Amino acid sequence: MERMGTMKVFEATQIDRLTVRNRLLMAPVKTGFGGPDGTVTDQQIAYYRRRADGGVGAIIVEPCYVDSAGKEHPRQLGLDRDDQVAGLSRLVAEIHAGGARAIAHLNHAGRAANPKAAGRPPEAPSTMVCPTTGATAEPMSEERIAEIVDAFAAAAGRARQAGFDGVELQCGLGYLVAQFLAPRTNQRTDAYGGDLQGRERFAHDVVGAVLAALDGELPLIARLSASEKVPGGLESADAVRLAQQLKSWGVAALHVASGSACDSPPWYYQHMSLPEGANEALAQPIKQAVDLPIIVAGRLGDPERIEAIIGDGLADFVALGRPLVADPDLPRKLGAGEAEQVLACGSCLQGCLASVKAGKGIGCIVNPEVGQERDLEEPAAEPRQVVIVGGGPAGLTAAIVARRRGHPVTLLEQSELGGQFALAPLAPGKAAMARPLHALVAQATRAGADIRIGTKATMEGIAALSPDVVILAAGASPSALPIAGLADAVTGNDVLTGAAEIGERVLVIGGGLVGMEVAELLGHQGKTVTIVELLDEVAKDMEMITRKMTMKRLTELPVTIHTGTKIESFADGQATVLGPDGTATLGLFDTVVMAVGTRPNHDLLPALEASGMEVKVVGDALEAKQIMGAVQSAWKVARAL
Ligand SMILES: Cc1cc2nc3c(=O)[nH]c(=O)nc-3n(C[C@H](O)[C@H](O)[C@H](O)COP(=O)(O)O)c2cc1C
Ligand code: SF4
Repeated sequence: MERMGTMKVFEATQIDRLTVRNRLLMAPVKTGFGGPDGTVTDQQIAYYRRRADGGVGAIIVEPCYVDSAGKEHPRQLGLDRDDQVAGLSRLVAEIHAGGARAIAHLNHAGRAANPKAAGRPPEAPSTMVCPTTGATAEPMSEERIAEIVDAFAAAAGRARQAGFDGVELQCGLGYLVAQFLAPRTNQRTDAYGGDLQGRERFAHDVVGAVLAALDGELPLIARLSASEKVPGGLESADAVRLAQQLKSWGVAALHVASGSACDSPPWYYQHMSLPEGANEALAQPIKQAVDLPIIVAGRLGDPERIEAIIGDGLADFVALGRPLVADPDLPRKLGAGEAEQVLACGSCLQGCLASVKAGKGIGCIVNPEVGQERDLEEPAAEPRQVVIVGGGPAGLTAAIVARRRGHPVTLLEQSELGGQFALAPLAPGKAAMARPLHALVAQATRAGADIRIGTKATMEGIAALSPDVVILAAGASPSALPIAGLADAVTGNDVLTGAAEIGERVLVIGGGLVGMEVAELLGHQGKTVTIVELLDEVAKDMEMITRKMTMKRLTELPVTIHTGTKIESFADGQATVLGPDGTATLGLFDTVVMAVGTRPNHDLLPALEASGMEVKVVGDALEAKQIMGAVQSAWKVARAL
């Protein structure tokens, strides 16, 4: 079955007259790498070329806005001006040089547009606020609707000029076309609102105009949400109806996702805490009702899942977004029977979405090369004996890169591989994070690093290995806060691993990521939890969607949060705190959990430096950062050895 599935994944397949070399596509993922005027940058071209080189069949390039009013990101690509075509032609040529097809994705974000990027308030079928951006959209006049229909057609014409092999039209994910379709977001009473026919008119007009611009030369794909996953939003039956209409209007393939940019971001981005396989199940009614090639997207990076979906005919193509951000070589590895070497995505959004939103351009917690594709890795000038102390993400990354460049590597880890990262999958809703960790371990092992688990690094042990360079990647340990009268506290790590006995009434000191995860875990176990946080906000270091979901779940649990509050002392199971309303007493508590951050483990550093050995400190051992920073620092050091 598995082999059959693999063979089917790698058979050349048609979308209308377009032949794609296999059934794996890249889903549209905003990179934030574009120029401020919507033009393509060299960084962006290198990013996509790398993905084409990795063997994917076709790349659905990140969204191009068709009118600047529909811009979602200040660095989004545009197709609203002729001068954007030349750059896109270069992009297409590079994707082709990598052997993949290039598909342009056209969108107007409607009420989901970002006013800062667009330079004006959003426009939409009706006045409505977008909870994600907080902006209120202005209703579009019929003249404006006609202009936008023309803008879609003009953008499709430019995509054709740029040499794209196909065009995808965004008809879902809660963007403008979908906003017209849903009665919840379309309260118009004119020809573009009211009954179903009225609400479908905009989609119909746009599809017609785009098809006319493509003139039968390029296939048109439509992306849609199988369900918007918002009360009163578009549901499965609406999606089936839309799919049938799209087919009757001349669309060549359907790309099924779910969610809405404004109303259900966890579904849109397929958050790690959602059930796996949700979109492939949601796509089935569409697959059964409409005889068109079906593309499905959403947490489908697991090679076995891909083979099963294609092998069982649940979809004709699998679209991968984050899995190809994390590992552009996924298709090549899958085809070569090296699935265990895939650097698996954990669906965490910590490095990709969070970085795009922060304006830094897309990144990935486990793939430090994202965005750095122009900076090619060179083999080492001469092999150097490398000893790495610590087997967390930073140590493993250093081992992989150093080995790849030809250095012999010995990695010493006193306990288990993974460091702090090994705790991530133990937190509620984060089981998927085990995958990237396993992948890092598999890659380091396969790369030929001599990994010695259960080996505490000592000066004698290190010296015996005669290293040319020592990379100190020993991670960080939980910090403790001295509090008068508090003798016993357990760490957040102890709670996550189950190493500590926890009473029924728990005080958690610190409301950062670990404190919140611990509180939720204990809340689910029925414990009564009080979080005390010095800052005015909790969970500031959590990725935004994860934070919102966590905060919502906490409201349903016996968890109380005190922000802007300092613990002064502790006595007889009670804490004296100083908060916004003055001094108060909290408690009684049976257990106190300390979750106040970490301190770097670099005890060996002075002795190593004194010995004259060349030492590089990376990851949390250098500075307690989130995993992405740790991995990046290790990558930089290993690239320069
Ligand atoms: C950072 C980021 C940006 C995205 N931007 C878009 C977008 O602009 N338009 C869109 O239709 N989907 C967008 N997506 C959704 C992806 O296309 C895809 O449907 C989703 O990530 C689930 O698939 P995956 O698990 O393979 O990543 C984005 C996803 C991420 C992570
Ligand atoms: S940052 Fe997380 S979700 Fe994003 S691509 Fe990397 S592993 Fe996947």
